[in-house]
Amino acid sequence: MISGFEEHFGQGPDLLVEAPGRVNLIGGSTDYNQGFVLPVAIDRRTSFLARGRSDDLVEVYSAGLSRGGSLKTRGDAGALGWLRYLSGILAEISMTGGVKGLDLMIDGDLPIGSGLGSSAALEVGFLTVLKHLNRIEISDEKVVEICHRVENEFVGMKCGIMDQFVSVMGKEDRAILLDCRDMKFEYVVLDRSISIVLFDSGVTRELVTSDYNTRRKECLDALERIRARRPDVRALRDLEPADLPWLESILEPVLFRRCRHVITEIGRVVMAAEALRERNGKGLGELVNSSHLSLRDDFEVSCRELDHLFAAARQQDGVYGARLTGAGFGGNLLVLCHPSAVKETVRNVSRSFTDRFGYTPGTILCRSSDGVKAKWIDGGGDRK
Ligand code: GLA
Repeated sequence: MISGFEEHFGQGPDLLVEAPGRVNLIGGSTDYNQGFVLPVAIDRRTSFLARGRSDDLVEVYSAGLSRGGSLKTRGDAGALGWLRYLSGILAEISMTGGVKGLDLMIDGDLPIGSGLGSSAALEVGFLTVLKHLNRIEISDEKVVEICHRVENEFVGMKCGIMDQFVSVMGKEDRAILLDCRDMKFEYVVLDRSISIVLFDSGVTRELVTSDYNTRRKECLDALERIRARRPDVRALRDLEPADLPWLESILEPVLFRRCRHVITEIGRVVMAAEALRERNGKGLGELVNSSHLSLRDDFEVSCRELDHLFAAARQQDGVYGARLTGAGFGGNLLVLCHPSAVKETVRNVSRSFTDRFGYTPGTILCRSSDGVKAKWIDGGGDRK
């Protein structure tokens, strides 16, 4: 990547930043309902090489996409596609003083648009580049907050806080139990006897225009109706499984099902963290399976390709559980299994999927990893 940078920009880079993607062990669509999530930063990253310029241009080149672009350091309201994320970060940072121009090359091994948190990695990594090149003090909490705001307000994807949070705060050999109400979190040891395998359904999603924002709105609509009768309920998080019969009596069926998913899922996250602490792969797996079924039937964010992978994975010896990860509507299925079962599971599930759909699903065996890191190329060591 360094020689690619030199070739493209005529000089070597000063800074390397790497921002990880994530899988969410459990807690689908609970973040924007102020509930709990249990994500893990993974060893698939978006990498950035950068060098300061003396003007106010941001010259970007994506090696993966073989495409580039040019932005102003104040951001560009008309930027399209992936440049929009960068532009949003620039617009935000320019409100707090501004930055100097830079040459930037982006690459990495984190697949884009397949439910592994690639948008958050792009935002978090780019903001970290700006922070270091311009020597601006920004706390980790602030990085999460800015990136989240850019995605919600600038890009228009009304995501929760999970992806940005874990791309910054991830830790090797740990999952993060995050309370999305007050951002309190706890690292939970991720036992190495639980392997994480991903199967890519090959169905890609454009989240901004997808049903993700519709689901979020359905949750808000339900909340509004609930609050008309119970103003003490601040978010779906404040409801319990014991409230379900009452909810069923006041909500239309679709909204009731959305609520049932969120309420039961929040309970499952807490139990899953406990199972992980107890190194109980089987118990964790059962909760993860229930999560997939609830996302499929009540929240309706699965698709036939993911459901096929799910059914095939469950039949394998040594598999604890499986679920769609990320927003759904395509992307990856996460499988948790015993390390000795990885090879057979990959072979059998891939074969079953290929027989049914005529193409082979991409597979990734991933490990947990630390959050975003920056390193000066002349050997300044690792830093946040
Ligand atoms: C996407 C969003 C997250 C979260 C998940 C679903 O990844 O960015 O905030 O809502 O979907 O759990």
